[in-house]
Amino acid sequence: MDNFSDPMVDCKQCKKRFRADHLPSARPDAATHAKTDKKVDKCPSCGGELTEPRNFNLMFKTFMGPVEDSSAVVYMRPETAQGIFVNFENVQQTMRKKLPFGIGQIGKAFRNEITPGNFTFRTREFEQMEIEYFVKPGADEAAHKEWVDTRLAWYSKYGMKKENLRLRAHEKNELAFYAKGCFDIEYNFPMGFSELEGIANRTDYDLKQHAQHSGKTLTYFEEDTKTHIVPYVIEPSAGADRGTLAFLIDAYEEQPVKDETRTVLHFHPALAPVKIAILPLKKNEQRIVDTAKGLAETLRRDHTVWYDDTGAIGKLYRRQDEIGTPYCVTIDFDTLENGTATVRERDSMTQERVAIKEMPQYFAEKLRW
Ligand code: GLY
Repeated sequence: MDNFSDPMVDCKQCKKRFRADHLPSARPDAATHAKTDKKVDKCPSCGGELTEPRNFNLMFKTFMGPVEDSSAVVYMRPETAQGIFVNFENVQQTMRKKLPFGIGQIGKAFRNEITPGNFTFRTREFEQMEIEYFVKPGADEAAHKEWVDTRLAWYSKYGMKKENLRLRAHEKNELAFYAKGCFDIEYNFPMGFSELEGIANRTDYDLKQHAQHSGKTLTYFEEDTKTHIVPYVIEPSAGADRGTLAFLIDAYEEQPVKDETRTVLHFHPALAPVKIAILPLKKNEQRIVDTAKGLAETLRRDHTVWYDDTGAIGKLYRRQDEIGTPYCVTIDFDTLENGTATVRERDSMTQERVAIKEMPQYFAEKLRW
């Protein structure tokens, strides 16, 4: 995000509003990022004439308390970053941190987007996760590079395909006013490559701004040199909703199995909302149900477990495949005889018999990452 305002144009004819930087003439070419010089001054919807671009403030304005006068005007936060800067010294001192260190936050942010849409890609209320990583001035460029590598590796590790990820350096004219450099990690969404996360070098801009406007210094005392310094900041800033959408896209498969199609989400186990499903083969066989419920209760101490007895076993497996559950355990008549149950793995659909009493250990190992 540049400065929480977007250039916008209005159609004089149909009154629709568009982001000027999303019009075909302004859009960087998908492959080269070169700006095209073709001038488009027609409405993409009705072909009408467009106004000159004007800046549109993306921050939501409201009033705090019951009185709607100018002294009660507040803005909903458009990023989580600022709360971190304000608390920088507080956190540093109470946690006894030495540079370099980071403060992370995840939470809601709000932007009055002109063009929300593309599934959950752009919404006016969204979940943002940001880290402000404080370093000594001079150490910022190396830390920036390290964070770019770390964040790219994170997306791959949890299941995004390498060919769907790419890195894009911001051009000078795209850089936010506070940034010395910025890289976007982009993902190949159904509507094309778009931003998942921006990793910016925010320099000492924010700490200095807060200090200037609050009249309270925000510095770090360096023991070695006995000087107060204003750290530089590297900021990985990601949209959690965008990451979720991208992980879903790469995990989703409609897989032919014999004469039918199974829908499966190949989630990394860390991302799967349910880790283990416990399925009794017969829901009207009390001993099977009791054993299954007992096992679910035991495993629930360490994992997210779903007990389901509302269908035939084939249907129950498919249901778990669709939500990406890595393991299903089926309790059957043999369980009552020999204390073992079938563990089925989601992706390979292979099955093995495992002793019920070994299962806490078995899953502790399978679900360790
Ligand atoms: N903190 C950067 C952004 O919200 O885009």
